[in-house]
Amino acid sequence: MSIWTNLRIILRKWNDRLNFIEKFIIFALLVAFLFPLTLPNSYHFGYIEIHPPKLLCPHKQFNLYRNANGYFNNSEQLATVDYGGRYHNKHCDSNRKQRVAIIVPFRNRTEHLTIFLQHMHSFLIKQNQIDYQIFIIEQADDKPFNRANLLNIGFQESLGLEHEIDCFIFHDVDILPLNIEQTYSCTKLPKHLCSYLDKFRFVLIYPTLFGGVITISKEQFRHVNGYSNLYSGWGGEDDDFYQRIKHNFGLIERYPQNVARCTMIKHGHEGQSNVERQKLLANVLDRISTDGLSTLNTTYVRKSIEFYPLYTKIQAILNE
Ligand code: BGC
Repeated sequence: MSIWTNLRIILRKWNDRLNFIEKFIIFALLVAFLFPLTLPNSYHFGYIEIHPPKLLCPHKQFNLYRNANGYFNNSEQLATVDYGGRYHNKHCDSNRKQRVAIIVPFRNRTEHLTIFLQHMHSFLIKQNQIDYQIFIIEQADDKPFNRANLLNIGFQESLGLEHEIDCFIFHDVDILPLNIEQTYSCTKLPKHLCSYLDKFRFVLIYPTLFGGVITISKEQFRHVNGYSNLYSGWGGEDDDFYQRIKHNFGLIERYPQNVARCTMIKHGHEGQSNVERQKLLANVLDRISTDGLSTLNTTYVRKSIEFYPLYTKIQAILNE
């Protein structure tokens, strides 16, 4: 007798013996077991791969020129940016456009900033998907660099200047998008952009990576109480933030590998590493409500706000 015949006999016996409720429970268990197998691989690793939203009205008359170093730089486009680094395109259906703050933590990287501003404005104006403003948040003291604290400050200070912002893009100054299809806007869940960097041969170095460039809505950022303010020095703050997002929303989003491609401007090491980061990462969930936007005002003093042709600069002095 074949295995198949045996199986049929067993199933028939079960069918006779089991009542409706028992059959239903077995069916439900089978579905619960088999359903995860139908999900894409990425889902099991804490993220979901999405296709970028269709561009509403990409700029037809502007082309993306690369300079000798390979970075985008179109002076014609840069001339359309308003003072303070704001861009608003009146020729597109602006009701459907998101109002976005691009928040860039910064200290001592002036040559990167010049490249960043030219590249990003050229890219975003060509993409023509959002109304945006670029905010450079400078740590104006000599304490270890606190990237996450600066991102929280950027969130609070930019909203103080522009109440209408509904989407935030937190962006390192040395990372630049390469593919125009990588749409810069908020989608349903917090999203990791630039997941595939030339520095790492365009490979995702670990599935929960959430540093470099991310998008998140104002409500979602408030919901997770922003970033932790406690990560002084390089590393860990983005892993902490990933845990906050995972705990509250389950997953992050990412575009496919051929879309989310970026380059990192070459430079030496990122600065002093944070040796405390493993200790902090061990109790992220206990700190969500007591460390973040809710305690931000105790962590810094605003030194200045200055408006330049391509950006708005906010200087902050950190307390610790
Ligand atoms: C650090 C992160 C960093 C990542 C990629 C990790 O070890 O904790 O902060 O983004 O490496 O460089």
